[in-house]
Amino acid sequence: MSEKDLTRLAGTFDRVARYFDIMRPLFIGPYRQAAEYTLCQLKNTGSSPALLDIGTGTGTLAGVFATQGAKVTGVDISRGMLDQARKKYGSQIDLVQVPAHAPGPFTDDSFDIVSAAFVLHEMPAGYRMRVLKEMKRLAGQKVLIIDYVPNYNPVITFVEHIEKSDYRRFLAEIDGQLQQLFKNYEKKKLNHFMGLYLCEVS
Ligand SMILES: C[S@@+](CC[C@H](N)C(=O)[O-])C[C@H]1O[C@@H](n2cnc3c(N)ncnc32)[C@H](O)[C@@H]1O
Repeated sequence: MSEKDLTRLAGTFDRVARYFDIMRPLFIGPYRQAAEYTLCQLKNTGSSPALLDIGTGTGTLAGVFATQGAKVTGVDISRGMLDQARKKYGSQIDLVQVPAHAPGPFTDDSFDIVSAAFVLHEMPAGYRMRVLKEMKRLAGQKVLIIDYVPNYNPVITFVEHIEKSDYRRFLAEIDGQLQQLFKNYEKKKLNHFMGLYLCEVS
């Protein structure tokens, strides 16, 4: 994605940021389920695993992990979305306005978990792969993706059409991309349209 594409996308999310959490009740249950499942599988992290949440938005997934005791950093390109996250979580989460492909000056394996919820389907394949590689580099144990699974919901098809996202291509390509990068990953349905793709970093 070019600088111009990222700026345009950030502007779109800036405009909807104040209303974004209207959809939170739909997501919070499955996010909690995904977080609990992932935390149970970590090794040797003590009570406070480190998590980087890419495209954190208003901080729904980041907040779930912070509430469970994780030390969380959330990054996003949209200042408006981050402002909403800040209002809710204050200093509980480190929030930084940077793009997913270059989330900060972090060394390899800086975090136990690197996550992205409903972010990757918005990216074209090449850029998505670049972001996935960066997530893998920064993760010591797990890369956690929550995103669409194949579904027949016409509202989703309509919304993603309006957003001009790469939703259909994401569904067609994500398994191949994860197989290319990770020896092991598991896919778990969280509800009729949402799934957890949990990748092991080895
Ligand atoms: C649909 S929202 C999801 C927000 C949050 N992860 C959640 O599940 O509630 C997608 C978020 O990803 C951010 N985003 C999209 N592309 C990005 C990129 N290349 N770098 C950083 N953030 C990005 C958007 O600004 C937006 O806040």
